[in-house]
Amino acid sequence: MKKLMAANWKMYKTWDQACATARELVQLAAKQLPEDREVLVFPPFTALRGVSEAFASSDFMTGGQDFYPGEEGAFTGEISPMMLDDAGAVYGLTGHSERRHVLGEPDELVAAKTAYGLDKGLNVILCIGERIEERKAGKVEDVLKRQLEIGLQDVPRDVDPERLSIAYEPVWAIGTGEVAGPEEIKAAHGFIRKILLDIFGEKANEIRILYGGSVKSANCAEIISLDNVNGVLVGGASLQGESFSQIVLA
Ligand code: PGA
Repeated sequence: MKKLMAANWKMYKTWDQACATARELVQLAAKQLPEDREVLVFPPFTALRGVSEAFASSDFMTGGQDFYPGEEGAFTGEISPMMLDDAGAVYGLTGHSERRHVLGEPDELVAAKTAYGLDKGLNVILCIGERIEERKAGKVEDVLKRQLEIGLQDVPRDVDPERLSIAYEPVWAIGTGEVAGPEEIKAAHGFIRKILLDIFGEKANEIRILYGGSVKSANCAEIISLDNVNGVLVGGASLQGESFSQIVLA
């Protein structure tokens, strides 16, 4: 299974800035990329087509940071999987903690998006993770189980496991510089694998589980070598071509 090295640019970068970083990334990392790695960037929607075009000479991929579970209609401000596809995206992100906790997205909406995106041909990364107060109250497994069971409730059991990934992103580690420790990551990823096996059976071993939360070049190699860590989802440290290229090659 190839490791998926993903960048989430969130609400950063204009078209020009995004395209420049994308070109720099191709220059710094495309030729040297090990066989067993894939690179994926989630730019802001306005720069999606530009970044997809900047990646055309490489195998690097793009994705949409969010999408609405519908084809078209009177949904002001929303974007559909078909529109993402039209802009060159092959992936979609669902359930990012900023959407859950800043925008108030409930588990059921995350579930609808996850199933719809997969049905319409996107590869989907479902993000899950506990808040600090949930960790302190010993509720990590309860939260992860709930977010997985509801988040995946509408996904057909015969889904191609290579098209679905899970990103474990403890909320307290996102953008804080406070990365989860190896034991915390191993425990969470092992638990997630167990729940996926309960839901999908044996083929759940082919579903990638990414870690996200303060990943940088200095900690990436160790994180990526842990059991059941099949990639990373990087925010802050992915914004510079130089720093993200060090991560993808780490
Ligand atoms: P961070 O963000 O790397 O800045 O912690 C990760 C994410 O939100 O996906």
